[in-house]
Amino acid sequence: MTDSGCGALVAGRIRQRGPITAAEFMDLALYAPGAGYYARADRRSGRAGDFFTSVDVGPLFGALLASGFEALWLDAAAGLDRDRIDLVEAGAGNGRLAADVLAAAASRHPAFYRALRLHLVDRSAAARAAHHDVLGRHAGRLASSGEALPPVIDGILYANELLDAFPVHVVEMGAHGLLEVYVDLRDGRLVERLGPPSTPRLEAYLADAGAVLETGWRAEVNLAAMAWVADAARRLRRGFLLLVDYGHESSALFSGARRRGTLTAYRGHQAETPGAASSDGRPAWLADPGQQDLTTHVDLTSVRRTAEAAGLETVLAADQTRFLLDLLERSGLAAELDAPDRARDRLALKTLIMPGGLGSTHKVLLFRTR
Ligand SMILES: C[S@@+](CC[C@H](N)C(=O)[O-])C[C@H]1O[C@@H](n2cnc3c(N)ncnc32)[C@H](O)[C@@H]1O
Repeated sequence: MTDSGCGALVAGRIRQRGPITAAEFMDLALYAPGAGYYARADRRSGRAGDFFTSVDVGPLFGALLASGFEALWLDAAAGLDRDRIDLVEAGAGNGRLAADVLAAAASRHPAFYRALRLHLVDRSAAARAAHHDVLGRHAGRLASSGEALPPVIDGILYANELLDAFPVHVVEMGAHGLLEVYVDLRDGRLVERLGPPSTPRLEAYLADAGAVLETGWRAEVNLAAMAWVADAARRLRRGFLLLVDYGHESSALFSGARRRGTLTAYRGHQAETPGAASSDGRPAWLADPGQQDLTTHVDLTSVRRTAEAAGLETVLAADQTRFLLDLLERSGLAAELDAPDRARDRLALKTLIMPGGLGSTHKVLLFRTR
């Protein structure tokens, strides 16, 4: 395992510096240039990939978002420019959600389409390299494709399944206080090792979230997500931030129901649940770095608190089902989907809003500048 490109990188880092945090491990396993899981390919989801997102269900998700974005643009209170609006997608992957949004905007919301300047942001160079081609006839709307958010945004910044892909610290409550889970090498194999927290910010985060972990419970602390939200809020001069992701309120996330945490490894649509071990007894999340997705559930309460502390106002916190059904009604798409030739879209809608599926696992947070 440690002789794969990414495994060798992780092993080398540990030999050089000693045990590394789970956050540092995930950063290498997912994003190390040329070796990390997301760094090596422009697309990871879909039938041939390792997991499904709402984008894989078909163009309907993008079409519904397009009508929602147009409504935000037209919202008089927001005061967005009618001639020019930044539409920024963060964690855009290869740009296929943006392509769906633009295709729907071009045909259903032409004035919005003409006004928008698209900015696609992704950490993966392989994903960014595909943006132009994936956008196809809409590539002319692409104002920038980069690794970092534009410095100033007047418009709408949105992200689907971004925060769940950030590297997290993993903590465990010990008998005498909080411990952090580190990744170490034993006999050339990656193993977990408990140690003191690498930063006091982990305890501070849990205290702010009101999390009381009992002895033996594990949890993740996604400091990177909070830093991203605060940074995004600073860059958003005027407009909206829309986040869609799977997650829970802090009270449900840091609870007995998730006492093993939520860090999950995905490969070929097989999910290795928190605490699971691979066939040789190693923790599943340490198996084959760079070859599998690693993801955690988002702490929605802390995201909201961070956004509000950074000056944004919460407009909506809902599950995906409610959010999409509302868009369906307002967009007029509901009536169109009754047409005999829209069977595929009707099926897609079911998948997007199905109780127990994407509709209830995925949550939507909408913020606006004050
Ligand atoms: C789970 S995928 C979701 C892709 C796409 N949004 C979708 O719904 O299919 C997460 C994406 O976020 C990107 N990413 C991770 N951290 C990022 C960051 N700090 N800034 C921009 N993109 C990031 C990854 O490279 C990856 O393409």
